[in-house]
Amino acid sequence: MDLVSTKAQLREGMPVAGGRWPVLGHMPTVLRRLTAFHLEARERYGALYWMDAGFGNFQLMYSSAEAVALFRSKAADSSYMRNVAGDLLGESLIVMDGAPHTKVRNTLNPSFSPKGLSTANIGEIVGRVMTRHVGPWAGESEVSIVPATREIALDIIFQMIGIPATDLSAWRKAYEEFLFTAINLPIDLPGFPKWRGRKASRWLQARLGELVRQARTKDTAEGLLERMAQARDADGELVEEGQLIDNLRLLALAGHETTASTMAWMAIHLAQEPKWWEALVEEATRNGQPPQSPMELRNFPVAESIFREALRLHPPVAADARVVIGDLELEGHSIPKGTIVGIPIVAMLRDPDAFPDPHTFRPERWHGKDRQTPLETIAFGSGPHFCLGYHVAWMESVCFGAQLALTLGKAGKRLKAPAKVPERYVPFIQPSPKIVLEVVGA
Ligand code: HEM
Repeated sequence: MDLVSTKAQLREGMPVAGGRWPVLGHMPTVLRRLTAFHLEARERYGALYWMDAGFGNFQLMYSSAEAVALFRSKAADSSYMRNVAGDLLGESLIVMDGAPHTKVRNTLNPSFSPKGLSTANIGEIVGRVMTRHVGPWAGESEVSIVPATREIALDIIFQMIGIPATDLSAWRKAYEEFLFTAINLPIDLPGFPKWRGRKASRWLQARLGELVRQARTKDTAEGLLERMAQARDADGELVEEGQLIDNLRLLALAGHETTASTMAWMAIHLAQEPKWWEALVEEATRNGQPPQSPMELRNFPVAESIFREALRLHPPVAADARVVIGDLELEGHSIPKGTIVGIPIVAMLRDPDAFPDPHTFRPERWHGKDRQTPLETIAFGSGPHFCLGYHVAWMESVCFGAQLALTLGKAGKRLKAPAKVPERYVPFIQPSPKIVLEVVGA
């Protein structure tokens, strides 16, 4: 502990967390101990405190169960995202707000509902990818879990939008290069990150454009891409082509490292907790196969509770944020317009009032909890921007747990992990990419 000091300066009448480094502010601490930083800051200062994100960039953190309301407030929106990562996010849902956001979101929502995903046969795609990737693990002596789940998640997203399995490596490469656009280096010369990111962006743009145009000419709308491409809003209009392309790129971004990290944490906890591993093998064996559709998830309460608990302890999106655009009062303070208010999801999910024994992996806390409160699903955000891929993530993660248990259970094997696994925090909470799980006899 003692990452922040009791002595705090005030800014706009609210405490600036202590323990700042010159110039870099809290970043060196947050990069190494993000969860501990927010838990300690809440204990020391209460729900509101400033975090110095370096170079004089301050973010007001609101660490309270009440922060759920901020996601729904009309006095705050997501427009700051355009400045932070405009090249990466384009004109996708995540940078839009108000009526334009609602219009596109309402058009795309049905494709991502349990019914829409079943019609698009997402269960079959997820099952096929899991069998291909997880199936061989029974014959391995170890699994490098972070790269492995990353590949699974990316293959699923790409196959969901109809990219043939034979083209996956080219898409994976282009996508990895495209991520260079997130690096804010102003130099745009050949070979530099910005240049490589833009080149890959043009490649993805052209290929996605072809896919969208093809999908719009088809007579049927069975696959996810055709459903998205042919969906019409209340005025009978299609989503504009450029916007649809940017949203397809967003799907790969938003639905890739997030689920990959959650699946990796599930595997790690299962490798550390034989009791939960045995319960999962028993459940998967009884069902005989992983869930084939979102409707079948109810047959996998053990896998679901392991997914929910891994997500609670390690929410991949550790903190979300909104910028103040109207009159906003928090904890009796009037918050100036233009302030970026950070919401430390990671601390909300370890609030002892809502989650007793908050630092312990206890999947049983989710048993019998079919109706979820907004706080319980806060790892997916809340309000109008609530994760579009919520049902995909749920399906994918439960299917992963079931496939893992079936594959290794049948071979009389299980995974073994070190007792302590280091976390990485940027850009998502994930296990250290170097972590290796052993495959051992059960
Ligand atoms: C465990 C997995 C996942 C987690 C924890 C997660 C978390 C989140 C969070 C925190 C947000 C922001 C919500 C807000 O600001 O209110 C978000 C938005 C979004 N997510 Fe996810 N996500 C996951 C998986 C996925 C998947 C698999 C997809 C796609 C198939 C996806 C697509 C999206 C999209 C498109 C948005 C933007 C929605 C909007 O702005 O309207 N996510 N997600």
